[in-house]
Amino acid sequence: MADLFDVVQFIEDAPSLVMKPGPANGAATQAAVVFDDVGKVFAGARGEPTTALANVSMQVTRGEVFGMIGRSGAGKSTLLRLVNGLEKPSAGAVRVNGVSVGELDERGLVTLRRRIGMVFQHFNLLSAKTVRENIALPLKIAGVPKAAIDKKVDALLELVGLSAKRDAYPASLSGGQKQRVGIARALVTDPDILLCDEATSALDPETTQAILALLRDINRRLNLTIVLITHEMEVIREVCDTVAVIERGEVVEHGPVWRVFGDPQHDATRALLRTLVHDLPTDLAERVRPVRNLAQDDARILLDVRFTGADAHEPDLGALAAALSFDGGQVNFVHGGIDRIQGHAQGRLVISAQVRADADRPAQIQVAALLERARRYANHVEVLGYV
Ligand SMILES: Nc1ncnc2c1ncn2[C@@H]1O[C@H](COP(=O)(O)OP(=O)(O)OP(=O)(O)O)[C@@H](O)[C@H]1O
Ligand SMILES: [Mg+2]
Repeated sequence: MADLFDVVQFIEDAPSLVMKPGPANGAATQAAVVFDDVGKVFAGARGEPTTALANVSMQVTRGEVFGMIGRSGAGKSTLLRLVNGLEKPSAGAVRVNGVSVGELDERGLVTLRRRIGMVFQHFNLLSAKTVRENIALPLKIAGVPKAAIDKKVDALLELVGLSAKRDAYPASLSGGQKQRVGIARALVTDPDILLCDEATSALDPETTQAILALLRDINRRLNLTIVLITHEMEVIREVCDTVAVIERGEVVEHGPVWRVFGDPQHDATRALLRTLVHDLPTDLAERVRPVRNLAQDDARILLDVRFTGADAHEPDLGALAAALSFDGGQVNFVHGGIDRIQGHAQGRLVISAQVRADADRPAQIQVAALLERARRYANHVEVLGYV
């Protein structure tokens, strides 16, 4: 298994080296990782070239939590593995703290990997070693004195909340506890970047929340840059500052989470976010009629009201309801919800409003006027139909 091999190789290779800052590693650069027009081509099953990544240009800012999402096979893991030199780019450059990873020799890579911790989906713990031995191993092999190792390991056990399990073996731990050990081990060399490839995918929702809280805590306390891959959109929403959407080897969209999630521009992003969208309940969906057929003098129109978080203010329900009310007619909140992402309120509300048409005021014209009013108080307002 490649992941376990990586860990073992890292451990075997690790002498106590200190990363020397490169020329571009001054205070001037805020980038922890720069992807500069990166491409990666693998040899396929029959030796044919397979493009895994193409034209990837973006950067990870120091101290942020950077999420990568995308369908299976999109190229996320490959992109992550370029950061710690487990893969070399076929084109372009990946720079970590100003150093071009693809150009490092073996010794340079060993040094680099001491600055970059990695956490895996399946934990990759050594079953014959205790919790503390697993965490201590990279330092032990690097020849760090025992007293210093003990001090470091105790501090990390405390940080991840596992002090009571220091002498337990991995087999007796829950998934969440194993991942805490994995995180502690990744932090033992005091890295400044932590890479997480689906670190919570094997965990139940509650344990996932606890691990995410831990990652967020470490990010803040240690000012650690975290790059994580996940299939769970909630994970991105909960902990990430920035998100990049990878589709067929290319970055199709990236930016602050609140902006990408609040107003996704690419079909791939919309497809991934479908799990977060409050879709119309089936009982309503079955009763909705297209609004072009609206001729009744008394109908309820259903509106899809979206807040993208682009405005600083909170959604003003009073003003919205007033804008949607015909002659004091009823306005109902039918479905949906608002989330807060990075301080931006965003979400989708399905609201119904009463339309009373007469000869002077045909329903279609009333609806058009109502939409115009409502759009002052929300980022998108569409008519779903009438019931
Ligand atoms: N060592 C390799 N040799 C050949 N092809 C590879 C290799 N590693 C990855 N690929 C190919 O590169 C593409 C991207 O793979 P990658 O593992 O980066 O995807 P991913 O986004 O992490 O997917 P998943 O969500 O399933 O983990 C895939 O088509 C994969 O088959
Ligand atoms: Mg992957």
